[in-house]
Amino acid sequence: MGIKALGYIVIATAKQAEWHRFMTGVVGVMDAGHAADGAALYRIDDRPFRFRIEAGASERLLAAAYDIGDAPALSALRAHIAALGRPVESGTPDEAAMRGVAAFFRTSDPAGNGLEFFHGDSRDSVEFVSPAGVSGFVTGDMGMGHTVFAAPNFDETYAFYKAIGFGDTDVPRFHFSDDPADPGMGFAFMHAQNGRHHSVAIGEMPAPPSGCVHLMLEMKTQSDVGKCYDRMRLNKVPESASIGRHVNDQTFGFYMQTPGGFDLEIGADPLVIDPATWVPTAHLQPSEWGHVWSWQKAMEEQASGQDQASGGEQA
Ligand SMILES: [Fe+2]
Repeated sequence: MGIKALGYIVIATAKQAEWHRFMTGVVGVMDAGHAADGAALYRIDDRPFRFRIEAGASERLLAAAYDIGDAPALSALRAHIAALGRPVESGTPDEAAMRGVAAFFRTSDPAGNGLEFFHGDSRDSVEFVSPAGVSGFVTGDMGMGHTVFAAPNFDETYAFYKAIGFGDTDVPRFHFSDDPADPGMGFAFMHAQNGRHHSVAIGEMPAPPSGCVHLMLEMKTQSDVGKCYDRMRLNKVPESASIGRHVNDQTFGFYMQTPGGFDLEIGADPLVIDPATWVPTAHLQPSEWGHVWSWQKAMEEQASGQDQASGGEQA
């Protein structure tokens, strides 16, 4: 059994106009019109869409959808996931057609994160043209990027992803403080059957109402990433983490907040692995440099405000 790649993302929102401005004006992806049921579609390559954004009452990532290859593999995986005790629901032919796939089913991991699995993907001949001048997104065999989910029941959720065919790439515990009593936070970065370092990752943290920690898209060049960072600032999109480079997948990039409340990581120049021979690692920290998180900045600003206040008293 093998998961091929991350294929598309389904999002529900009550803020479709805001998502549209974010996707086209900030991320620089292409407006691909609407599905028959009215969902807004956005493309980043020759797939008819990679983002399906449905009208909803609240903000939530409904599903990350993974390509499982062919019909026998899809039905085997469906039975396997049902046997693991997770709910499975087949999509209707109309729903599959609107997703550009031959067939799919919905399920969720043991932390409740939404997943779809499909086979029979589609491509078309419309050239990708970014409305913001992005030279391109790196997809192909490596899929559209990666998804990071929260899993407070970490061990159970990690076992689920292993059981359904994702492979370990990096399984660390990250320590975000200097406190020796800090137990750290478990993470599992897992690959599909392609060279992307991880197509899914889970972190041992409370599940956010948005249903996702972050998504990652890979742009072709570091200049594409830098220009996207400028568009984030110009459009007053909240920065979640400054530009930096990860230790484990070596990606150069930054994080910003989507209208859905979860983050979008924009990166370039990642490590590409051979999934057949990769020996799992366990890194001690997430970033080689940079990636100053907004909560870290807030703490630093608070500390410098306190310094200035106490300095003022002394003077
Ligand atoms: Fe990431």
